[in-house]
Amino acid sequence: MITTRHFSIDQLGDAAELLREGQLVAFPTETVFGLGANALDAAAVGRIFVAKGRPSDNPLIVHLASRDELSRIVSHVPEVAKALMDRFWPGPLTLVFAKSAVVPCSVTAGLDTVAVRVPAHPVATELIRLSGVPIAAPSANRSGRPSATTWQAVSEDLEGRIAGIVEGAPTQFGLESTVVDVSTSQVTLLRPGGVSLEALQQVVPGIQVYDMRSNAAGSDQQPGSLEGMNQTVNSPGLRHRHYQPKARILLVKDMVSQPRTAAEPSAFIGVSEPNDAPKFTRILVCQSVEEYASSLFDFFRQADQVGAKSVYCESVPEVGIGAALMDRLRRASES
Ligand code: TXA
Ligand code: MG
Repeated sequence: MITTRHFSIDQLGDAAELLREGQLVAFPTETVFGLGANALDAAAVGRIFVAKGRPSDNPLIVHLASRDELSRIVSHVPEVAKALMDRFWPGPLTLVFAKSAVVPCSVTAGLDTVAVRVPAHPVATELIRLSGVPIAAPSANRSGRPSATTWQAVSEDLEGRIAGIVEGAPTQFGLESTVVDVSTSQVTLLRPGGVSLEALQQVVPGIQVYDMRSNAAGSDQQPGSLEGMNQTVNSPGLRHRHYQPKARILLVKDMVSQPRTAAEPSAFIGVSEPNDAPKFTRILVCQSVEEYASSLFDFFRQADQVGAKSVYCESVPEVGIGAALMDRLRRASES
């Protein structure tokens, strides 16, 4: 156990000093909280995997304060990447490039590519700038658990395991960044997230969608099989258990057809009022799919706190942020 120091957003200089010393500091971004380390220090990066209990074959995203620092860590920036950066940076879009020699293997899990993003969050930007180095940061949760969208959730998972937590406000999107591979001539969406497929298609009409369920890239998302997932997956993080609270997650189209045992405490989250609302221990009816997305991971943690054994989650159409929300719900519901 180590003592975790808590920083307010006007103590970023102290937090940056810990990062420069090779320690781990959690900080807010517009998507979820990140667990940062100096990306150029292999020992510091190694500490991330220990603190999270993260499998070492799952590569990390490198965060920059601005696009100007990109040339240091990537070896080639294709034209299509420039167009995507012009449109979506700073913001919730991670791009996968061919890496430069300065990036340690532990950051990329031995791949010859590196994932990079410039967050659109003043605290994240200032912390990275003050640290003076690129910051490798996965989501700030124990591996397999729901991502942290509040500093309290970071503390719940990582207090005593990391050097510092920056206590920013709850995150805006609540789901992680979209990951797009621009390292080959075929641009491929690897993980849906804060930037929608429809928005990406406006810049790259020919973008391919990687379907983790059938483990193959196709031009559209088709339901596929779960078999073979461990073979040729090109975004290693996609195959690990993810986003799971202790409660069982049940993805439901409508509550009318859902049998429920009254004895078991359960929770509901969605955009429509369930007909048997009073029977739920905890319930959240959101005003929009955006609110549903930004509330989901915190709701999972609340459901655990009130002892719910299952969380009923309403399905939503897979457009806009709905695609990322359904991706997380599907993966959280897989056992
Ligand atoms: O919004 C976010 O992206 C948050 C905040 C903190 O920035 N970070 C985040 O990191 O979600 P993490 O580690 O939970 O997810 C990183 C994802 C994984 O799916 C991983 O496989 C993929 O990015 N990734 C990282 N490097 C990659 C690479 N070189 N090639 C393909 N996928 C990569
Ligand atoms: Mg994560």
